[in-house]
Amino acid sequence: MKIGNVEISGYAALAPMAGVTDRAFRELCAGFGAAMVTGEMVSSKGLIYDSDKSRELLVLSENERPAAVQLFGNEPETMAQAAVIAMEYSPDIIDINMGCPAPKIASNGCGSALMKDPELCGRIVSAVKGAVSVPVTVKIRKGWDKNSVNAVEVAKICEEAGADAITVHGRTREQQYMPSADWEIIRQVKKSVKVPVIGNGDITSAELAAAMIEQTGCDMVMVGRGALGNPWIFREISMLLGHDRPSLPVSTAERISVLLKHVSKMCEYKGEAVAMREARKHAAWYFKGVRGAAALRRKAVELETFEDLITLCREIE
Ligand SMILES: Cc1cc2nc3c(=O)[nH]c(=O)nc-3n(C[C@H](O)[C@H](O)[C@H](O)COP(=O)(O)O)c2cc1C
Repeated sequence: MKIGNVEISGYAALAPMAGVTDRAFRELCAGFGAAMVTGEMVSSKGLIYDSDKSRELLVLSENERPAAVQLFGNEPETMAQAAVIAMEYSPDIIDINMGCPAPKIASNGCGSALMKDPELCGRIVSAVKGAVSVPVTVKIRKGWDKNSVNAVEVAKICEEAGADAITVHGRTREQQYMPSADWEIIRQVKKSVKVPVIGNGDITSAELAAAMIEQTGCDMVMVGRGALGNPWIFREISMLLGHDRPSLPVSTAERISVLLKHVSKMCEYKGEAVAMREARKHAAWYFKGVRGAAALRRKAVELETFEDLITLCREIE
């Protein structure tokens, strides 16, 4: 499939996740077959006020393409200016966040709050589209709450304004990340627009990826929490949907080796002190299913250095 002029080969994209989908994790997932990756959301205001922290989130490498960067904000002009700044980092795609439920984002009218104003969604897409040469996509939710389910309306307005693909997370803002996602809304959006639709919500296995594509007709799935400590999910999806031989269960040795590779890249990209603080949660996710996981998780919270992680991994039988 193609998003604008960008060729996407594969069946599953890595979802944007603040605090998780940094360069090290995106590269890892791309290596396991993610068809596209998206970075952590970046504040449009942060970019135009030249915040180093915002800019750092935009750094991409050649090992993770095609890669999208995601911007949040609610002012069309600011979003357009931020998109121009983002282009300095050569993203393949610019994605617009219309789904974040976090109070500090939504109470400022950004993220999921945009869905309360479909006309503004359209103006933002059209401003960003007019400012950059790469495809522009949007990531929406089912709606704001159960009384305002308007994903189809917002998707159509965004398409009309020039969006090149639409990702639909099948939950309202009110539902945050629970209960289970409504895939029917993904099917309805897919029926209503011509641009590619990416389905998102609750894909935790290759079988569920196949089921979502079958039930909704979406062009690709997007995996969020199912990839935490589990980048292999992209290999499993590629193998199942590519009718390849079934993938073998991931061994503990492979689990440890990938965790170490992941964290060592984090250390390389952000320095050991910052990386190791962030690596604690990743280590805990990778330990899921490993013998003695509860004790390993308790120790993971205390990791200070990469050497500590190597020592902890040696305890695993
Ligand atoms: C820790 C975390 C951070 C997230 N950050 C973002 C973000 O920056 N931008 C965004 O559009 N969605 C964000 N999301 C939502 C995910 O992209 C995805 O839509 C959601 O988790 C549902 O997919 P899943 O059921 O596969 O996890 C985040 C989710 C989690 C769990």
